[in-house]
Amino acid sequence: MSNYHIKNLEEYFQVYRKSIRDPESFWEEIAEENFMWSKRWDKVLEYDLSKPEISWYKGAKLNITENCIDRHLYTRGDKTAIIFEPNDPSEKSEHITYKQLHERVCRFANVLLEHGIEKGDRVCIYLPMIPEQAISLLACARIGAIHSVVFAGFSATALSTRINDSDCKMVITSDGSYRGNKTIDLKGIVDEALESCPSVKTVLVAKRINSEIAMKPNRDKWLLPLLDEAYHHCVPVVMDAEDPLFILYTSGSTGKPKGMVHTTAGYMVYTAYTFKNVFQYRENDVFWCTADIGWITGHSYIVYGPLANGATTLMFEGVPSYPDFGRFWQVVEKHKVNQFYTAPTAIRALAKERLDFSENYDLSSLKILGSVGEPINEEAWHWYNDNIGKKNCPIVDTWWQTETGGIMISPIPYSTPTIPTYATLPLPGIQPALMDENGEELKGNLVSGRLCIKFPWPGMARTIWGNHERYRETYFSTFENKYFTGDGALRDSTGYYRITGRVDDVIIVSGHNLGTAPIEDAINEHPAVAESAIVGFPHDVKGNALYGFVILKEIGETRLHENLRKEINQIITEHIGPIAKLDKIQFTTGLPKTRSGKIMRRILRKIAEKDTDNLGDISTLLNPEVVQEIIDSAI
Ligand code: WT7
Repeated sequence: MSNYHIKNLEEYFQVYRKSIRDPESFWEEIAEENFMWSKRWDKVLEYDLSKPEISWYKGAKLNITENCIDRHLYTRGDKTAIIFEPNDPSEKSEHITYKQLHERVCRFANVLLEHGIEKGDRVCIYLPMIPEQAISLLACARIGAIHSVVFAGFSATALSTRINDSDCKMVITSDGSYRGNKTIDLKGIVDEALESCPSVKTVLVAKRINSEIAMKPNRDKWLLPLLDEAYHHCVPVVMDAEDPLFILYTSGSTGKPKGMVHTTAGYMVYTAYTFKNVFQYRENDVFWCTADIGWITGHSYIVYGPLANGATTLMFEGVPSYPDFGRFWQVVEKHKVNQFYTAPTAIRALAKERLDFSENYDLSSLKILGSVGEPINEEAWHWYNDNIGKKNCPIVDTWWQTETGGIMISPIPYSTPTIPTYATLPLPGIQPALMDENGEELKGNLVSGRLCIKFPWPGMARTIWGNHERYRETYFSTFENKYFTGDGALRDSTGYYRITGRVDDVIIVSGHNLGTAPIEDAINEHPAVAESAIVGFPHDVKGNALYGFVILKEIGETRLHENLRKEINQIITEHIGPIAKLDKIQFTTGLPKTRSGKIMRRILRKIAEKDTDNLGDISTLLNPEVVQEIIDSAI
């Protein structure tokens, strides 16, 4: 029996029990048998969750790109590592072999070195889904630079906040990007962001849309000629197991994004292990994760997890609706995709369209379907199962987070029987706990509570960049010695988990994690706004949409309100990005507050959900009278 590749339910339970009984020998065996190390670890795990300090494979030395690329050169040199499928179906797709990937990563790494990037330096990557994006992550990792990818849908303000938070020395971007029938001026956004980023010395610009852009002398450089001139070999820098590999920002309950820090060895082992098992990857399969590399899903399951397994991973530049709603299925047919991993919001959007968009294509290559990012509702699950999987492909509903590095709770195909809306069972090594309001663990089945993880796993984020105290406070202070996820969950009579949604001030919109605080901060910058509160309400495609309650400094005429609504969404777009725009904006004269001045979002949520019959006790509010006013003018 191999711990690394689970093949049936009995084996899952055996492996799971072993992983709990003796986590160290479990993770040691996996690390030993499946990776390349320059030096072995001294200790598999050292931890103290009260501090919290977590160290996996301490003392080990490695380079993750040797594991993702070099070691495959002997056995898989001519195998395709990355398939690039462009936005426009008439443009040719690109197949990059492991040999070619090696050369391109080495050249890119040498360009970074020539521009003074050293081990430990931060490099911001703000690129569309083109091969250079995956290659730039690997180039950073090759020389030990810490990459910080910012999703290329974020605004200039959001970009500069992230660049400054970690003092990036360099930005890697492109002249622009294609998205469906639109082009986006990425370089313009970077220029605007960099007006307030003194740490950035160099901007490397990839050519994608061939637009005329301004290049700032001494700062901006075209990437292509540099790559052409660079040497095609680059010796990988030997990294400590716990050296940071990357920073990835996620929103939280204050305005400032949290730079989650992932380290090298544990992240590598965890993403590789979960990729292999959750997607049952077999040699020569073609794996496609539709996420953007700007999110953790792309880091772990487009780049690191697949490449560490020598897999063929597909990168898609476009959107599901261009040139029509059959685009995903056309790509599946074209590249004979075997595992397809997407988000419920995409499934819901496609399920609204005519069935022949999927029926026109041969989907028989598909073996496994995946879902990630938010709870998948029953209707979407059935549509996916019936029309895409033809009732023949297990659906893995994978629950995890930016902070967890990799998939935590998920069925293992052909092992775990699936049920719609259930993420089912924890992966080996993962010890979930459900907690009640008093901080007690709820034992046994048929319970629901706050979802925690009570033992370290290799893929967990180790800190928040520059703010370890915030890391402790956010994740390890609510429940003693446990990692608190921010999600609620239930455990059914068979021990299956169902994730019920966030229990904090984070709202998942179209699978994107949005904190209410940064959006409120942005709105409050509008000169006419006195105060605001954002809540989520159910939306049939996005899962949740945003509802804003806004108090104006002066009550204006209704005619002005329409303009204000536009301006508020404009400000949000500038500060965060279009993904955070509000679907509904209600102007009000007050917000329900507790006596200590805290906004009672629970009440606003009920109003936004149009469920006002049961508001609970509002008598303890400072201003109970405002509630009726808000209900009466709700949209
Ligand atoms: C939050 C994390 C993990 C990659 C994408 C999102 C929600 C994620 C599921 C799922 C129910 C899910 C949770 C989680 N979530 N997957 N299968 N079922 N909820 O990463 O942006 O860090 O968001 O997404 O609420 O806490 P993220």
